[in-house]
Amino acid sequence: MRRYIRALVLCMVFAVFSGLFVYSKLFYSDVSVASGAKRVFSPPRDPGGGQGAASETDHRNPQRDNRYSTRDGSDALGSKDSRRPPSMHLAVVTCGERLEETLTMIKSAVLFSIKLLHLHIFAEDQLHASFVEALELWPGFVRSTFTYTLHPISFPSDNAKEWKKLFKPCASQRLFLPLILKDVDSVVYVDSDILFLQPVDDLWSFLSRFDPSQLAAMAPEHEEPRIAWYNRFAMHPFYGRTGVNSGVMLMNMTRMRSAYFKNDMTPVGLLWEELLMPLLQKYKLNITWGDQDLLNIIFHHNPEMLLEFPCKWNYRPDHCIYGSNCASAEEDGVYVMHGNRGVYHDQKQPAFRAVYQSIKKYVFGTDPVTSLLDALVEELSKTTHTYCGKSHTLLTKKLARSLANVKKDDGDFRNPNAGRPLPG
Ligand SMILES: *[C@@H]1O[C@H](CO)[C@@H](O)[C@H](O)[C@H]1NC(C)=O
Ligand SMILES: *[C@@H]1O[C@H](CO)[C@@H](O)[C@H](O)[C@H]1NC(C)=O
Repeated sequence: MRRYIRALVLCMVFAVFSGLFVYSKLFYSDVSVASGAKRVFSPPRDPGGGQGAASETDHRNPQRDNRYSTRDGSDALGSKDSRRPPSMHLAVVTCGERLEETLTMIKSAVLFSIKLLHLHIFAEDQLHASFVEALELWPGFVRSTFTYTLHPISFPSDNAKEWKKLFKPCASQRLFLPLILKDVDSVVYVDSDILFLQPVDDLWSFLSRFDPSQLAAMAPEHEEPRIAWYNRFAMHPFYGRTGVNSGVMLMNMTRMRSAYFKNDMTPVGLLWEELLMPLLQKYKLNITWGDQDLLNIIFHHNPEMLLEFPCKWNYRPDHCIYGSNCASAEEDGVYVMHGNRGVYHDQKQPAFRAVYQSIKKYVFGTDPVTSLLDALVEELSKTTHTYCGKSHTLLTKKLARSLANVKKDDGDFRNPNAGRPLPG
């Protein structure tokens, strides 16, 4: 008999926690699908595409859209009339096999960030449901620190076909952010293979350091001209000595939408929306790295519009494979890591892969020192046979200090089912 009572009590406890979990889901669902952006940019004749996925998500979760517009809409869209502190906006574009990598980037962003973060995830339609599923499983004390919007990959309707034909759809999406996110003032754009090793806040604060003519910020493509790419191989103009890398890019989109850009096609300045297509037409046969090349051409002609930030904000294997050449990282450690050329997923740069793996494996709420930093340091000590592994202390220097900001479950809000599959 006693056994039955015990089982009954256990069932009741479980039921109460399940109820709490469902309640928390309803309360914390801020996701929305940007119907506004699609209205503007989806080609009306396109039968499937973006519209389908959006309405599907809407049907599945009608309350999400409501939450978004009532609780977070004004804030997320950058309106000044908001009772909550304004969010930082982080944008990423993801296609193909990049779901897990993108989620790990997002994890690193929300793990250390201080102010509220709003994510703009541009993804192929078939990935939308997986993003919602993964993000909604994160525990409440993490979920409450960010909101997000899922966007379809879209292009200005008049030239959509041409853009799609000339680039892989994902590759040039970032160029259109100022035209798609019409109501957002500024964003931090990152590639999906970025990992934040410090709060997004520190990168965001560059925006307020722009002088009146600056509207974007990026790091140089290289520090060492003798091994750099653009100055040796490019068949088009590029910014500065070695070009810029677009993997981490700050944009003041308010300024980008209103500025006139000097160019080598017409004697008059062109608006951003007028500039892209003629530029692509002129250079399409000469560009190698897609939209990054176009950005290099644009800022070649308008260098005063770009703030160049140091390489510690966009640290790539190029900065260590031939010996360490990123002075700012030598001094302060790596702030933002960029595992380009797939190094998180192969064995070519085990030091980069180790950082990726340790953030991917970290379980929210556990002690970040033992389960993230100590474990990582041990992994990195096995990589010292490689050039990047030799300078592995650069990878943990800033990270170790960022751990103080890691979100903790302070008990105000408990989500006992965090990390478990959704019931039912
Ligand atoms: C972006 O530029 C606009 C216009 O100059 C300015 O009002 C706004 O504050 C800037 N945004 C940020 C985040 O600094
Ligand atoms: C493209 O590259 C070729 C070969 O270097 C060069 O002659 C040509 O001027 C370039 N086109 C443009 C538009 O810069």
